[in-house]
Amino acid sequence: MNFLETVFCGVTLKNPVVAASGAYGFGRDYTDFYALEALGGISCKGTTFAPRLGNPPPRIAETAAGILNSVGLQNPGAAHFIEYDLPWLRAQNTVIIANAAGSSVEDYVENVALLAAADVDMIELNISCPNVKEGGVAFGTSCASVEKIVSAVKKVCPKPLMVKLSPNVTNIVPIAQAAEAAGADALSLINTLTGMKIDVAHRRPILHNNTGGLSGAAVLPIAVRMVWEVRRATQLPIMGMGGVTQWQNAAELILAGANAIQMGTAIFADPYAPLKVIYGLAEWVEREGCNNISELSGQVRPW
Ligand SMILES: Cc1cc2nc3c(=O)[nH]c(=O)nc-3n(C[C@H](O)[C@H](O)[C@H](O)COP(=O)(O)O)c2cc1C
Repeated sequence: MNFLETVFCGVTLKNPVVAASGAYGFGRDYTDFYALEALGGISCKGTTFAPRLGNPPPRIAETAAGILNSVGLQNPGAAHFIEYDLPWLRAQNTVIIANAAGSSVEDYVENVALLAAADVDMIELNISCPNVKEGGVAFGTSCASVEKIVSAVKKVCPKPLMVKLSPNVTNIVPIAQAAEAAGADALSLINTLTGMKIDVAHRRPILHNNTGGLSGAAVLPIAVRMVWEVRRATQLPIMGMGGVTQWQNAAELILAGANAIQMGTAIFADPYAPLKVIYGLAEWVEREGCNNISELSGQVRPW
């Protein structure tokens, strides 16, 4: 019985556990631990059309139950990714998602056209990065700009287009609906929440960027709430993420309405965390008497 196989907007994932963008780089560092084919998929590091150095250090700060990062989309650019990283990734026998970012509508369109023409399975459109001065989250926080960018990108994207939403909004529902109306094939949520940490002795923010994006265990309840809200407002497949460290957290996102999940920050502390979640989910599905995990998606029973 294949308890975990999941068809996500036409793409078959052998299980619904995907490495989150930014946590796994382009995958190579993790082959010392296990074969990447164990994963349902890999969402690659956010890729821009032109290479980017990212923000100056310090770029990571630990917090009580997660991390703040202000990496700022450091990446080698789409052409380099396609030439040097993608052929290797492709040989890993897992689903490959390109995570596309940009600084203007034209820049996003040019980037997605290039990435979607390459041998990737899906595009994740990052309109929710809080750590870059131009673009990023600015595109993901108003319905008008979400519609503008998603409809422009969709025209050049023959692959499934998954739009990654920001939690840094008062109400995520109209943003999700705007993405759906503009042609998104799927949604992923949540990106990081803007936060700040101060070195009291020096009266200085720890991060050179002053603020950063909070991820890890601390954000799980927010992610679960947002997936639940979005599930009731759209028909689109949802990849839920934010703070998954163990299978029970993934199960919460699935019960709230996610069809698959991603894991990021937890992998830094334990590279094996995704494998433990995969085993835990399979046992959960069997215990619940289901044939497949899809039967549990959205099955929370609200009071
Ligand atoms: C160091 C770091 C880098 C990240 N880079 C990206 C990125 O390039 N593109 C993106 O869409 N999300 C990026 N994210 C956000 C994650 O993909 C994810 O949405 C978020 O961290 C919540 O999941 P988690 O709590 O499991 O980490 C990054 C997160 C971290 C911690």
